[in-house]
Amino acid sequence: MVNKEILNQEFLKSIESEYIFDNAPINRFKKNKENDDASERLICLKDKIKSIQDCELKKFAKNLVFSDGNPKSQIMIVGEGPGEKEDLLGKPFVGEAGMLLNKMLNAIKIKRENIYITNVVNYRPPNNRKPEFSEIKRYSVFLREHISIINPKILILMGSTAMEALLGQKLKISKERGKWKEIIINQKTFITILTFHPAYLLRQPDQKKFSWEDLKNIRKKIDELNIKV
Ligand code: URA
Repeated sequence: MVNKEILNQEFLKSIESEYIFDNAPINRFKKNKENDDASERLICLKDKIKSIQDCELKKFAKNLVFSDGNPKSQIMIVGEGPGEKEDLLGKPFVGEAGMLLNKMLNAIKIKRENIYITNVVNYRPPNNRKPEFSEIKRYSVFLREHISIINPKILILMGSTAMEALLGQKLKISKERGKWKEIIINQKTFITILTFHPAYLLRQPDQKKFSWEDLKNIRKKIDELNIKV
């Protein structure tokens, strides 16, 4: 009898009894549920932006420009706002600045379809003007929610509008670019880097050397964090 007991215990140990006899149901769907939640939250956010009232940007825009890329990505880029082509196609960064952005990403071996891209404002400002401070502030509520939903490991802010929307201050971009910062959004810390906007680089090509430094820095962080892109 005693021998049988010992044998049983040996047997149970050998088959990892804790795993087998755990009464809690195995949550096989946990990961997918998170993804479902994120997709639903993205739909809700888009609806919220669509229903914005008394907005000068929405009044003149043709389309809402929400995002592009992979919502499950661990890398998120924030630009300024849609231009003419983006407004027409309803997709961010598809014009000239977008073409340069694609080249910048290719240069550090990132496939555009593997990252997630959005803008501070989701409607084209008339005549491509810079969004006003009040507009940046208003849309930054949506942007913060957008970032919380995507929950990226690396957040890349391109240009002064993205900087103002999330850092809340008018800092000198030439001084702040290329430094890793931690920003807190809805009680979560995000690793963030500020860099030049591709449209600025088209106007000031002599600044591309600094942009290249930032891109290499981003690639290094991607590798350190073991992010697949
Ligand atoms: N510039 C931006 O900031 N965003 C776009 O989508 C296009 C140009």
